[in-house]
Parts: sequence; C-alpha cells; structure tokens
Amino acid sequence: MRISVIGCGYLGAVHASAMAKLGHDVVGIDVDTAKIDRLSAGEPPFFEPGLPELLTASIASGRLRFTTDVAAAAEATVHFIAVGTPQTADGNAADLRFVNAAIDELLPYIGPGHVIAGKSTVPVGTAARLAERIEATGARLVWNPEFLREGYAVHDTVEPDRLVYGLRAGDEASAAVLDEVYAHALELGTPRIVTDFATAELVKVSANAFLATKISFINAMAEIAEATGADVTQLADAIGHDTRIGRRFLNAGVGFGGGCLPKDIRAFTARAEELGRGESVAFLKEVDSINLRRRRRVADLAMAELGGSVNGKKIAVLGVTFKPHSDDVRDSPALDVAVSLKGLGAHVVAADPKGVANARLRHPQLDYVEDATDALSGADLVVLVTEWPEYTGLDPVATRELVAGAIVIDGRNALDRDAWIAAGWRYRGMGRD
Ligand code: UDX
Repeated sequence: MRISVIGCGYLGAVHASAMAKLGHDVVGIDVDTAKIDRLSAGEPPFFEPGLPELLTASIASGRLRFTTDVAAAAEATVHFIAVGTPQTADGNAADLRFVNAAIDELLPYIGPGHVIAGKSTVPVGTAARLAERIEATGARLVWNPEFLREGYAVHDTVEPDRLVYGLRAGDEASAAVLDEVYAHALELGTPRIVTDFATAELVKVSANAFLATKISFINAMAEIAEATGADVTQLADAIGHDTRIGRRFLNAGVGFGGGCLPKDIRAFTARAEELGRGESVAFLKEVDSINLRRRRRVADLAMAELGGSVNGKKIAVLGVTFKPHSDDVRDSPALDVAVSLKGLGAHVVAADPKGVANARLRHPQLDYVEDATDALSGADLVVLVTEWPEYTGLDPVATRELVAGAIVIDGRNALDRDAWIAAGWRYRGMGRD
C-alpha cells in the first residue's frame, strides 16, 4: 500500500516506520523541519526502544521517507492522521487545532479511492464532523484508534492487541483497505472490531479512563493503608489474584502521567459535560484528584522525614520521566515531585537515564545529572519516582556509602524494601512502610 502519515511524534514516527517494515511504501509528513531532518537521517527525535533500528532498516529499504511537504501525500492512497491533541491552555478540553489543520492541508490531495485513517485521540463526535469534509472529495474516513504504550510502541504497532475500525455503515471497501494495511497483524489472529465512528472514538478514551481509574483506585487504597498501617502492595497482590480484577495497573505510587492518561480523562470529562452527560464521568475528576494528591504525598513525607522542613537539604530525585523506558516528561509525576521539593527550598539533584534534556527544557531551575551517583553523593534524602531498572537495582549497601542520610522514599513501591531496611535505611513507601 502507498501510505502517508501526517504527524511524526511518538505515534506517527513509530507508525510510519512500522508500516514500511511491513512492506508498505510510506511517507511521513510533519511541519517541524528539525524533526523531519532527524528522522530522515535515521535518528528518532525521542527515545523509544527498538525505534532506531526499525527506522534505519525502513529507510534503507527505500520504502520510508520523511518530508515537510504535504503535497507528498498525493503519492499515497491511505493517509493516517497521527497529530497530537493536547489539552487546551485555558481548560480541560482537547485542542483539535492540529487535527483540523492536518485535514485542511490534506484535502487538496485526496479523492475517490483514498482512505483517511484517524489515529489521534479525539473527543467523540469529531470523526463525524471531519467525515463530511473528507467525503465531499470522494475519499472515505475510518476512525482507527491507537493503543500503543510508550516504551513498547514498536511491539504495540507491529503486533497490536486489537484493531478497531470506526466507519460509515456498509463501508466495506474502507475496511478492506485497512485489512490490507494490517495484513500482518490480522494473520497473527489480532481481533478486529468494526463499528461506527462514535464507538471507535469512545473505545480509546474509555480504555484510558479505565486504566487511569484502576491506578487511582489502588492509590486511594494506599491512602487508606497509610491511615491504618495496612500494606497496599500485599493488598494489590491479593485482590489481583481474582482474574476479574487482575494485578496489572494496580501498582500504587506517585500515579499516572504522560501525554495520554491525564489529558484524556480531562478531555473526556469536558466532552461529556458538553453532551449534557457530565455526571456519567464525574468520577474521573476524583480519579484526577487522587492522582495529583499522591505527588504531594511525597513532599509531605520528605518534610516529615527531614524534621519538618526540606529547606537547604540535598535531595536526590531518581527519575524525571513519567515512566521508565521513555524520555517523555509530559505531565510527569516524577518531575512534579522534583519541582515541588525545589519550591520548598531543597537542593534537588534529579537524575534520569533518558529524560534530562526534556526535563531541563521545562524546568531549567533544577540541577540534573545523568548518572545517579552524582545525585546520591552527600544526599540527605533519596526519592525514587521513576522505576528505571538502574534505580530499582541499586545496591542498598553501596548506595548507603554515598549518602549523608540513609532515608529513602520509594515513590513507586519498586525497591526491595527488606534489603534496604537490612542495609540500614529508613524506608518510606506509598501506602506501605
Ligand atoms: C497509555 C495507555 O496504556 C496506552 O494504551 C495509550 O495508547 C496511551 O496511554 P502510556 O501513556 O505510554 O500509555 O503509559 P502507561 O504505560 O499506560 O502508563 C501511564 C502512567 O501510569 C505512567 O505514569 C505509569 O507510571 C503509571 N502507572 C501505570 C501507575 O502509576 N501504576 C500502574 O500500575 C501502571
């Protein structure tokens, strides 16, 4: 198939590279010249495991190129919309300006026989509105949400756990086109759900709302555990054995962040309110509040452990990305914790294997190091907020030699608590001590 991918961020760059690997001819299009230059040189503009190899191989095959010129879309008949839908600056709704611009720019190059596949996460009702404009050219629209996780994006794109096609009733021709695009995944037996636009849009936001709710549920239990002396990790293990509940996404800690979950639950709430159904998802406001409270809990614990104030104390913050195996610091709980400790007067030295450059752009006031040893040396307190294997695997005995104060706050409940306590550390977890 001849494919264009509009938007080459975390989603589009991986999608374009993966589609080329699967044998399609792909052009990736983005307005950001620096990004396109780097991608053309085979260098991903962000960290994603496996992407450098995939990108290089796909470019070398001659089936993948990148450009800022949207006219290149004229060569393709399937066009993926993979631009961002960030939170609006003045509210909770999704900002659709990049989606609208992508469609505006694409319209002159599409016509009968073309399929536009929307991958961006959008408020329900967007696809129906866009379809009218697209169909006026003779092209067709399919809403085809993406469920990739950062850190596993290559795997999730090549072997997704399901495919969802939202289309006009009876538009079998468009479904057949996407079947050809996704032939590899379909041969592997990937479930394929064909539905209408609204359901496809809602599948994506409701999946993220469910995941966010699951995390906030266990974090709410962590708060109760803190008030009662219970252990939230054991609680999660015990309830997780019930297959109806399941253990995944039940890790209590500083909560969820990133470019999807936080803004998606807010956009969902805003859209539901527009639809007069605000009360149906009013619980998502609670999910958001619980999540943000857990970030504050770390600062409270830090103050309590350092005698009431962190002022002038050196605190090693391990992790700034929103999760390990990513360089993404968007809405990162870890970075938020570092910033609030700094705001309370601490001398914060934040370490991260991949996220320092992005964090520095957002919060230049913090001191950053790539090597955790530099953060740990002479620290009065250690705070682990992103569970990078480099940090969860630290040797508590050797680490104790580096610090001034052997106190650790495990913001992800990811350390071997008994080993740290045995090495002489004072350990504080989230919903367990
Ligand atoms: C998420 C969805 O998983 C994915 O399907 C969707 O396409 C995009 O949004 P991603 O943002 O990459 O993917 O991150 P995810 O792995 O879901 O983690 C989100 C956040 O939740 C991270 O900050 C993570 O640390 C946190 N988390 C996850 C927890 O706090 N506890 C858990 O048990 C699991």
